[in-house]
Amino acid sequence: MKIISIVGARPNFMKVAPLNKEFSKYSHRVNHKICHTGQHFDEKMSKVFFNDLNLPEPDFYLGVGSGSHAVQTAKIMIEFEKVLLDEKPDLVCVVGDVNSTIACSIVASKLNIKIAHVEAGLRSFDRCMPEEINRMVTDTLSNFLFVSETSGLENLKREGIPNSKVFYIGNIMIDSLVHYLGRVDQSNIMAEYQLKKHNYILVTFHRPSNVDSDSDIQSLVELLNSLSERRKLIFPVHPRTMKKLQGNELVDKMNPNIIATNPIGYIDFLCLMKNAELVITDSGGIQEETTYLGVQCLTVRENTERPATVNIGTNQLVGIDISTIKNAANEVLDGKIKKGGVPKLWDGKTAERIVSILMEKLD
Ligand code: UD1
Repeated sequence: MKIISIVGARPNFMKVAPLNKEFSKYSHRVNHKICHTGQHFDEKMSKVFFNDLNLPEPDFYLGVGSGSHAVQTAKIMIEFEKVLLDEKPDLVCVVGDVNSTIACSIVASKLNIKIAHVEAGLRSFDRCMPEEINRMVTDTLSNFLFVSETSGLENLKREGIPNSKVFYIGNIMIDSLVHYLGRVDQSNIMAEYQLKKHNYILVTFHRPSNVDSDSDIQSLVELLNSLSERRKLIFPVHPRTMKKLQGNELVDKMNPNIIATNPIGYIDFLCLMKNAELVITDSGGIQEETTYLGVQCLTVRENTERPATVNIGTNQLVGIDISTIKNAANEVLDGKIKKGGVPKLWDGKTAERIVSILMEKLD
């Protein structure tokens, strides 16, 4: 049988890498191919992950690049339809909640090709988030819904998705984390930026709702400047965020104790997360990775589609008010830390479970 897995944006690569490895164990039965939509295209947003995660060159590269949501999604759909018409796979495997996920799901479903969605069922209940729309539509169209945390089971049940399509298999991103954690000691990043273990704050921001408006990006720099009086900060800057910082002439207004870098590769970033005293982020995946690592995380959002990281893990949802975030950060720096555990089946074996279910059901 033929299966095509989709990658498009940075958070997809570490989810497809373990699947690719697992499918290769069934090469006598499965012809597994990878399609890269080109949603992310910079060397540091894409290629570095292929190297770090040992992913093969994609079989198909759609080269769609950036654009408005409609333009980006539509371009992916047009190009991916050609691939599906030529290749006629038995299954399209999509991960996460980016525009590539929804676009490829729509195309596959209209051609009556089965879809597996890995990371199904997550809901922030905030339709202002483009990812929420992507998650809902993808789940509606999918034949196999692979769920990473128990909230996903409840959400899909409430939405009337039949139980027979839903599988709790744990968190695929943690497969990559577990696999590569042993290699973080080979990373040179701590020495490169003269960081001391458990004595710096790692910061990432890229959500449109936090960085797109001039006043939000100004408040963000104000927050970072204030925190940098207590600790060194390392801030790998997403291209979207960099554009806004430059547009508002804010890069030079950051205190010298803030190290603003280009986006960082997978292993180096794992190393930074593992050794951080505190992570402040608006990312989805980083909430989960810090929970697994037991590292303190403040999520600068009003909601999360990953409640297990708050209910079980070390994540705290602190909203977007600057003084509340500062207080929460200062508490952690003062030693008031949140103890946390790891959700069920976040154990490095999720890809194994997914592929074994697919092998059984697709026969
Ligand atoms: C996308 C995902 C988001 C995910 C994030 C991780 C959607 C709707 N959003 O957001 O869920 O958390 O990826 O990074 O799919 N850009 C570059 N080089 C690149 C990629 C992007 O310069 O390689 C710039 C472009 O100017 C682009 C902007 O970043 O306009 C945003 O890129 P886009 O893919 O639209 O969304 P992200 O913000 O990266």
